Amino acid sequence: MDFETVIKNRTAIRKFKGDKVEKSKITKILKAGRLAPTAKDLQPQKIYVIESEEALSKIDKVTPCRYGAPICLLICSDKNIAWKNNDYSSYESDAAIVATHMLLEATNLGLGNIWVRHFDIAEVQKEFNLPSNVVPICLMPLGYASDDYKESPLHNQRKELSETTIYL
Ligand SMILES: Cc1cc2nc3c(=O)[nH]c(=O)nc-3n(C[C@H](O)[C@H](O)[C@H](O)COP(=O)(O)O)c2cc1C
Repeated sequence: MDFETVIKNRTAIRKFKGDKVEKSKITKILKAGRLAPTAKDLQPQKIYVIESEEALSKIDKVTPCRYGAPICLLICSDKNIAWKNNDYSSYESDAAIVATHMLLEATNLGLGNIWVRHFDIAEVQKEFNLPSNVVPICLMPLGYASDDYKESPLHNQRKELSETTIYL
């Protein structure tokens, strides 16, 4: 897919087929995340590939938003590694950029994907035995979109550039 098509096609998928995702595609997605920029190139991301039944059932405990996906990435950021400057830490921004690279690569590979933040951080940390410095930033269910998935009505309701852009 050319880049503009990837950007246009990416949309939140909320109904997945149960079909397994090829390991080679997951590896490509992880590699796309690896190339993302992070502050000072410190790469604080920790990405958990949730694929076993046991781990997927833990996801279902912490969020209603797996939507039947056969695999989920849990994208976390290590606060101890991220760049800090006075009271600013880049931990969340870094992981968000990594996750965005991965969403776009998933779209490029024909895989449905969605950014999910409907969870409680402490609950996820407890379920997956994460230390307090490893903060869950988002969940990314991945898989093939169900044939009857309905496109989100919000997908094409972006504000006009004039509402969000200020030329100075
Ligand atoms: C930070 C963030 C958190 C989100 N959390 C959820 C969520 O918990 N559950 C969900 O169904 N969608 C979630 N979404 C998906 C958005 O609702 C969706 O991307 C938005 O409505 C635009 O639609 P589109 O992605 O199809 O263009 C989230 C998206 C972002 C960026």
